[in-house]
Amino acid sequence: MTLRFKSRSSMDHSWLLFTLVICGVTIQSCIAVDRGNFKTCDQNAFCKRQRATQLGNSPWEILLDSLNSTINSLQVQVISSRSQARLQLQLIALADSTLHLQLDEINPIKLRYRSQESLSGSPQLSSLKILEQSSDSISLSFGGTGKAILLVKPFRLDVYDGDQLVISVNARGLLNFEHQRVRKSKLWEAMTSVAQTVGSVGSSLPGKAYSWVLQWLPWSSEAAATEANPSDPVEGLEQEEGEVKNPEEKPQEEEEPGLWEETFKSHVDSKPYGPTSVGVDISFPGSRHVYGIPEHADTFALKQTKNGDPYRLYNTDVFEYELYNPMALYGAVPFMIAKRQQGAVGVFWNNAAETYVDIEESSSGSVVSSLMNLVSGGGNEPHQQTHWFSESGIIDLYIMTGPTPKDVVRQYGSLTGTTPLPQRFALGYHQCRWNYNDQEDVHNVDKGFDLHDIPYDVLWLDIEHTDGKKYFTWDPIKFPDPLEMAQNLTAKGRKLVTIVDPHMKRDSSFFFHEHCEQNDFYVKDKDGKIYEGWCWPGSASYPDFFNPNVRDYWASRFALDKYEGTSLDVYTWNDMNEPSVFNGPEVTMPKDCLHYGGYEHRDVHNMYGMMVVEGTIRGQLMRSDYKLRPFVLSRSFFAGSQRFGAVWTGDNIADWEHLAIAVPMLLSLSVSGIPFCGADVGGFFNNPNSELLTRWYQAGAFQPFFRGHAHLHTKRREPWLFDEQTNKLIKSSIKQRYTYLPLWYTLFYEHEKTATPPMRPLWMEYPQDVETFSMDNQFLLGDSILVHPVVRSGETEVSVYFPGDNTLWYEIETYKVYQGSGYQTIPVAINKIPVFQRGGTIVPKKERARRASSLMAKDPYTLIVTLDKQGKAQGRLYVDDGQSLDYQKGSYLILELSMENHVLSSKISNQGAFETPELIEKIVIAGLNRSPSSIEDNTGRAVEYRYDTTSQVLVLRKPNLSVSKEWDVSLKM
Ligand code: NOJ
Repeated sequence: MTLRFKSRSSMDHSWLLFTLVICGVTIQSCIAVDRGNFKTCDQNAFCKRQRATQLGNSPWEILLDSLNSTINSLQVQVISSRSQARLQLQLIALADSTLHLQLDEINPIKLRYRSQESLSGSPQLSSLKILEQSSDSISLSFGGTGKAILLVKPFRLDVYDGDQLVISVNARGLLNFEHQRVRKSKLWEAMTSVAQTVGSVGSSLPGKAYSWVLQWLPWSSEAAATEANPSDPVEGLEQEEGEVKNPEEKPQEEEEPGLWEETFKSHVDSKPYGPTSVGVDISFPGSRHVYGIPEHADTFALKQTKNGDPYRLYNTDVFEYELYNPMALYGAVPFMIAKRQQGAVGVFWNNAAETYVDIEESSSGSVVSSLMNLVSGGGNEPHQQTHWFSESGIIDLYIMTGPTPKDVVRQYGSLTGTTPLPQRFALGYHQCRWNYNDQEDVHNVDKGFDLHDIPYDVLWLDIEHTDGKKYFTWDPIKFPDPLEMAQNLTAKGRKLVTIVDPHMKRDSSFFFHEHCEQNDFYVKDKDGKIYEGWCWPGSASYPDFFNPNVRDYWASRFALDKYEGTSLDVYTWNDMNEPSVFNGPEVTMPKDCLHYGGYEHRDVHNMYGMMVVEGTIRGQLMRSDYKLRPFVLSRSFFAGSQRFGAVWTGDNIADWEHLAIAVPMLLSLSVSGIPFCGADVGGFFNNPNSELLTRWYQAGAFQPFFRGHAHLHTKRREPWLFDEQTNKLIKSSIKQRYTYLPLWYTLFYEHEKTATPPMRPLWMEYPQDVETFSMDNQFLLGDSILVHPVVRSGETEVSVYFPGDNTLWYEIETYKVYQGSGYQTIPVAINKIPVFQRGGTIVPKKERARRASSLMAKDPYTLIVTLDKQGKAQGRLYVDDGQSLDYQKGSYLILELSMENHVLSSKISNQGAFETPELIEKIVIAGLNRSPSSIEDNTGRAVEYRYDTTSQVLVLRKPNLSVSKEWDVSLKM
């Protein structure tokens, strides 16, 4: 079926038309992704080639003669005994037990792209020492305690944790680095013309003559090699390209299909640089599971891919994505954690090109098992074997040696950054829909929340608010006075978010487009002309965000005098930034498009979306003179995107399976450095019934980014449009979210410092508990709250796993106690989902839910103390002004809370740095087996209390302890 596009009115979209066309049926009955729009590995030449690399027969050897080292690194060449191609290997010791391995071509025809933008800065170096060198291997230490061995023939890198081998690179011999080459036909043309120029050279041109010809080829780096030693023939090239005996005889184009050009549906990818893919295997001896490499709608513990496609990382706008498969989605983070029972390691494959990862559990007798037997004498442990390959770029591999999961995420965070503490409002509830139609609609929705006493912080405007899909503009009829509209919201302490997508309408009356045209700011097609694709506005072009001037210009457009109708309370949503191109190959930009610096889109694709957001964030920082924390939500992401804000899981569906998959998807993002993540509450497509919507709010209230959103063609679903009970239950879930904002805020502050995600898998806190390793239906908030969402219709009970031997878990409303470790059946009425607070923790809350989080800023706190078996508990409260960047200059308070020997105390770890009138108005102590006889604070003041013998809960009323001062409260027993 052919694609048809035309400019449509706001209610009738080219996108919708597009989806109708790709589905071939109506939107209601188009219930699953059209797989035919996206390549499988078999339809992808480099994927097939890399997957076909022969196991266990690696031709790559280290050339010991070329070894050089410094105090932080070693460099050595690696040669292929088959092609004679040479690679430069570099091993660099980084701080915090991290080892960096790079493999790149020596004298490449064209410099390969290095994805530096993913890093938050230059990684800190550490020491690397060669301990021993023989003709077989080089043993080295890195960062003081790390140990690694480079094996010479074939090349292999083994990394150890103490004496245990934990990572092995190229153990299965899958290193496959497609060195750049000259296409036979080009070579033949060049040789013919040289031959004609110099006259007859006899009937053959072997060896030296061949090299001599190569010197004249401008694209040939082999020319440089020849210059260095003109008598050496360039054997590798000769062998791989086939010996050209006679320039008169044009060589047969016997090339494998897909090397120099590839067609998918009607799209032709001209591959001017030919095959450039890179790949290698990485094995994790002793690891039971691997996690990470988002974004996939799949289980949290990654699956074996032997009998299907590998996990694909290629940012794409997938319509109605399918669950439980390895297809690529909107974002890509090539980072993986491998979990052993006793430890964890991580790898970061820093490559922004299309990437695949194959996963296989090794059987006994496999290469890795024999390796394990050899090294450690034990062979029955499971091993995860992975195979990574990218279409271009270099092998740029960071190895993080843990040993705990928290160490690994910290090590990864120190490379790619953490999410800076968001403004408090961003952690509240967000109300979105495609679309709130006009100012009156916005006003009524806002009023509805107040009328029904439901808190919310942000109202979102989707694409219809613009003037004809020209971003940075407003529809003059529907939104005649956006500033006033925003002010009505912000007067109540709320915010507005507007969508700003990166496809720019090709309309000469649109200032942004004109500016891009005039300043040569757009991405080019393969022939160097401005690339034009189709998206919401119809014909559109795409700013080249890899050009720093483009990002500067983009950022400048967020200034309040430039982006009319906005204020400092208006924030941004960057959508469609994969980039989505409705008529492009796989709904994105052709790979042979050209970017700043001469790189192909192929090289940088997975990073495009992140670069858009970088510009937006800077724009928001600039417009507030670097005073206010920015907020941007992005659909596309790459490693490092966490530095720029929040992401969500895109266009999910209002069904139970999509509610359930949100947990593994968000956990996968969380452990891969992207903690500020959420799924559209209610499901984007289709209409949730009241039970599903209720369960979705109950789950979403405990997930990091909490936003209700819906497709244009769904029924309106503001909570009060449902029956009374549903409205009440949704309200109570949202209010519950607000009561926990102090905990969320504290967890996000801790994330910025330590990289530990607020939403975490159980194994992050219980790393040795095998039962938690493949758990998709439970998660933790920090180390204190355990959540088990209800994700099935009509569920009346669920089986909850309580981790931790001797650990107590208190149900958060009744304080009923459950003991770990093990499963227990918990009844689940429709009014709540199972949530528990761990014994031994103190959770800060604010229990007076108001219209918006800003109105709670000065409200008093409640501390929930749940005692462990020893009667102890600990917790933390982070406090600052909730919005400015002053906290980065030390303007905040951290209260270290602890309870021991019946004394609850608060110590401030950075005394006097921030003043606040906030008080502690209530303290709940659960798990106290008898009532105290009296309670007093450190000034001798008696504190009122009530003890309930049945629940064993003590409530201290109005202790009115200052947050800004240290205090303690003693229970006289
Ligand atoms: C696609 C996004 O995923 C969705 O959330 C949004 O509503 C539409 N684009 C329209 O902007």
